[in-house]
Amino acid sequence: MESEYCFQHKHILGIEELSARDICYILDTAESFKEISQRPIKKVPTLRGKTVIHLFFEPSTRTRLSFEIAAKRMSADTFNISASTSSAKKGETLIDTAKNLTSMKPDIIIIRHSSSGSPHLLARHIKASVINAGDGTHEHPSQALLDMMTVREKKGTLAGLKIAIVGDISHSRVAHSNIIGFTKMGSEVHICGPATLIPSGITQLGASIAPTVEDAVANADVVMALRIQKERQVDPLLPSLREYSAFFGINKRLLKLAKPDAIIMHPGPINRGVEMTFDVADGEQSVIMDQVTNGVAVRMALLYLIMGGEER
Ligand code: CP
Repeated sequence: MESEYCFQHKHILGIEELSARDICYILDTAESFKEISQRPIKKVPTLRGKTVIHLFFEPSTRTRLSFEIAAKRMSADTFNISASTSSAKKGETLIDTAKNLTSMKPDIIIIRHSSSGSPHLLARHIKASVINAGDGTHEHPSQALLDMMTVREKKGTLAGLKIAIVGDISHSRVAHSNIIGFTKMGSEVHICGPATLIPSGITQLGASIAPTVEDAVANADVVMALRIQKERQVDPLLPSLREYSAFFGINKRLLKLAKPDAIIMHPGPINRGVEMTFDVADGEQSVIMDQVTNGVAVRMALLYLIMGGEER
């Protein structure tokens, strides 16, 4: 049966649309691509002649650069558009922008946008494949895939692990994609954060809400801290960052409650001293830089697989 599996997705819009088998296949493919980035000449011809457009309407360091590095390492031609330099500034709608881009015959459009559902809208209006690089507070599928790759690499499996996710769950597309992804792969996800930052209905995605941060972290295999997204909070939802840090910041004392070989993760960018202390972020249990390294491999795998789907 294994040999009959075929990756069928033209777009990567969310972890929601992927099966456990799809996720496993993407992670296996990413592992096989990781070696390319270790070579003296980090380039393969796999996507030669393909055009990849990065359409970023929100700031990004890791996602944008690693998608661009991934595409370039596979010999694709890459182009960048940002909100500040695009005609969106002059009032052009996303659909009009998409139609104009389609006229230039791109193969893949990678979009980050503050509105949840933008990549899905784009996918309905253009011929190219669409990858969601983060849409509002909805999903960030490539981040969840690189997170799952990093955990699988360090722990050997995803099944049966306890994953603690601490922080601003309400505004975090990373949390949403990771809850869906890790639970599909057989992990137990325990979330924790200020009550004002835990959305109602989150347990329907498969996560449990821990009553205290100590409960969330106790005996965890993975502790993932999330950024406090002040820019998405319409009303002040926290008394102060200092208070958040005192109650929910990951420090060495809290970490002692996790398994001795627990790993520490953060999708970045980190507010050091808020979501975690400096010694935790830079400590020997931190795999934050491994997450960034794996981001390139996962994004190479996504570009490769969606183009393979198109050829089929
Ligand atoms: N993790 C993440 O999405 O980082 P960037 O915002 O820098 O892309």
